[in-house]
Amino acid sequence: MKKVAVVWSSPNADGLTASAKDRFIKGLADAGAEVTEIALNKKKLEHCRACGNGWGTCNKTGECLLKDDFADIYRTLADADGIVWISAVYWSDMTECFKAFFDRLRRCDATKNHFLAEKRCIIMACAGGTGRGTLECLAQLERGLTHMGMRVYDRVSVVRYNRDYVLPNLEKAGETYAQVLETGFNMYY
Ligand SMILES: Cc1cc2nc3c(=O)[nH]c(=O)nc-3n(C[C@H](O)[C@H](O)[C@H](O)COP(=O)(O)O)c2cc1C
Repeated sequence: MKKVAVVWSSPNADGLTASAKDRFIKGLADAGAEVTEIALNKKKLEHCRACGNGWGTCNKTGECLLKDDFADIYRTLADADGIVWISAVYWSDMTECFKAFFDRLRRCDATKNHFLAEKRCIIMACAGGTGRGTLECLAQLERGLTHMGMRVYDRVSVVRYNRDYVLPNLEKAGETYAQVLETGFNMYY
């Protein structure tokens, strides 16, 4: 049984982002994956202080010196076989909360630990406004994942216009992802 961490961010417990997350998790669970849900907005997460004039402990010891929920979440991600990243779209980007976590993760992982390298991911951007900015949000997410050596199986955009036909299909998407993690579908990079 594969372990999948679903990292998501929105302050809204029953909005578009939460619906997308729930549908995907249903598919994962139906396919027998062990799911750990990480709701970033409910965690205590500070932003990077860029200590040490830019590089603090992160690229030397692989640890962040801020004491909050970061280290626990990082351990869960390192232990997962697959990671699903889902953010509400704010300003054509990931949420501030997501960005704060992502920035610290990249510093520790890309420069020192490499615990997340080679993990196969799904990324999802949920935009409840005009829908503009979903592609930029996905691009920012993928750029960060690439810095850490992760790979992206699929990039999903959920907007008000497509929610009625995309949300139901996210269950199938979750099932497919769980199956693919078992069989090891690969892509040439
Ligand atoms: C600060 C802020 C910035 C936003 N920027 C965008 C945007 O660039 N494009 C968009 O389509 N919607 C934007 N929205 C709308 C959110 O994407 C919308 O609230 C969406 O539904 C978030 O998911 P939720 O339903 O989980 O809250 C923004 C909302 C906020 C609060």
